[in-house]
Amino acid sequence: MVDAYKLIEKVVGMTDTKIKIKNLYKVFGADPKSAMEQVRNGVSKQDLLEKHSHVLGLRDINIDIPEKGISVIMGLSGSGKSTLIRHINRLIEPTEGQVVIDDIDILGMSIEELRAFRRNKASMVFQKFALFPHRTVMQNTAYGLTIQKIAEKEAIERSQHWIERVGLSGFENHYPAQLSGGMQQRVGLARALTTDAEILLMDEAFSALDPLIRTDMQGILLDLQAELNKTIVFITHDLDEALRIGDGITILRDGEIIQQGSPQDIVMKPADDYIADFIKDVNRSRVLQVRSIMVPAESGIGPHLDQNMPLEDALSRLSSEGVSEGSVVDQAGKVIGQIALAAAVEAIRRPERSSQDLQYR
Ligand SMILES: Nc1ncnc2c1ncn2[C@@H]1O[C@H](COP(=O)(O)OP(=O)(O)OP(=O)(O)O)[C@@H](O)[C@H]1O
Ligand SMILES: [Mg+2]
Repeated sequence: MVDAYKLIEKVVGMTDTKIKIKNLYKVFGADPKSAMEQVRNGVSKQDLLEKHSHVLGLRDINIDIPEKGISVIMGLSGSGKSTLIRHINRLIEPTEGQVVIDDIDILGMSIEELRAFRRNKASMVFQKFALFPHRTVMQNTAYGLTIQKIAEKEAIERSQHWIERVGLSGFENHYPAQLSGGMQQRVGLARALTTDAEILLMDEAFSALDPLIRTDMQGILLDLQAELNKTIVFITHDLDEALRIGDGITILRDGEIIQQGSPQDIVMKPADDYIADFIKDVNRSRVLQVRSIMVPAESGIGPHLDQNMPLEDALSRLSSEGVSEGSVVDQAGKVIGQIALAAAVEAIRRPERSSQDLQYR
C-alpha cells in the first residue's frame, strides 16, 4: 500500500524534498548536551523532567517535507509542534541533528545568510497575527518589502496585488484594530505572500478564528496554493483542519513522531489507539479521496473521476450511472488509475481494531 502511495505521489509530482529534517533532537534545560545521553538511552520525557530536570522538546525527528505541498504537523498541546516548525527557520537551534533546505544545511549559515533566508525564502504566519498596530493594512503587508529596501512604488504595487487576492480591497488604509480576526489574519497571509518566499511556515495560523471564519481561511489558502504551489508547513491541533488541507500529515506526541502519511493513510491505517481515537468520528467518505483507493493504470473503463474527488461523490456518480467501475484522472484529464465500487464501499467502512492496536492500551 505504501508503495502505491509513493507511486501516486510521483504521478502528481510531489516527490522532490524541499526540507529535510534529520535525526533532530531538542532538549531544553541548563545542560542539554549531557542530558542527551539520557535521551539516547531512551529515558522518557516524564523521567527526563522529574529525574534530570530537562524538558524533552523533540526526539529523533526525521521528516522529508516535499516541495509544493501542504505538510501538516499535528499533535496535542505540548507535543512539540512549535518547537519543530521553529527549527525550520532556525528560531530554535537543535541540540542535535540537521535541517537541510534545498540541499543547504541551515545550521551552517552565517547570520547574514540566515537573515536573507528568513527575508526571502521562508515566511511565517503566526497564530496571533503579529501585525503592527500603528501601521495600516498596506504598511503591514508591505513590511517585508520595506525591510528589503524595495522601492516604495513597487512595494505598494506588489502589496496591493496580495491584498486583493486575500479579499481585502478597500481596506488598505485601515488599522488592524479596525478589522475582525479573520481579516487580520488575511493581512498576515498577504504579508507572508508579498515577499514571494517559497516556504510558508504557519503555526496554528487559523486556530484563533471562529469556526466559520476558519473554514473560510482554509478555503482561501487552498485556492491560493492551487495556483502558487508553495512549500507550506502548517501546524494545527485540529484533525478536521489537518485532513482538509494536508497533502501529508505528521503526528507528534511527547516530542516524537508517531505516524506520518497522507490523510488517507491516517484514516485508513491509524498507527495506534491514540490516533484511532482521534479519527473515530471522522466522515470517511468525505475525507478519503478517489486516489487513495485507486489501482494505478494507464487506461480505464467507466466515468472519469478526478483523483481528488471524495469517495462520497464518486460513489454517487458510479451508482447514478449504474456502473461498478470508474477511471481516475489527474488535473490534466489523463487517466492514471481505476477504482471499483466495491473497494470504495469497503474503504468507508469504519475499521475494526486490530490486535496490534491493543498493545498500546
Ligand atoms: N523555551 C522553552 N524552555 C523549556 N521548555 C520548553 C521551551 N519551549 C518549549 N518547551 C517545552 O517543549 C515541549 C514542546 O512545546 P511546544 O511549544 O513545541 O508544543 P506545541 O505542540 O507547540 O504546543 P501548543 O499546541 O500548546 O502550542 C513542551 O513540553 C514545552 O513545555
Ligand atoms: Mg505551539
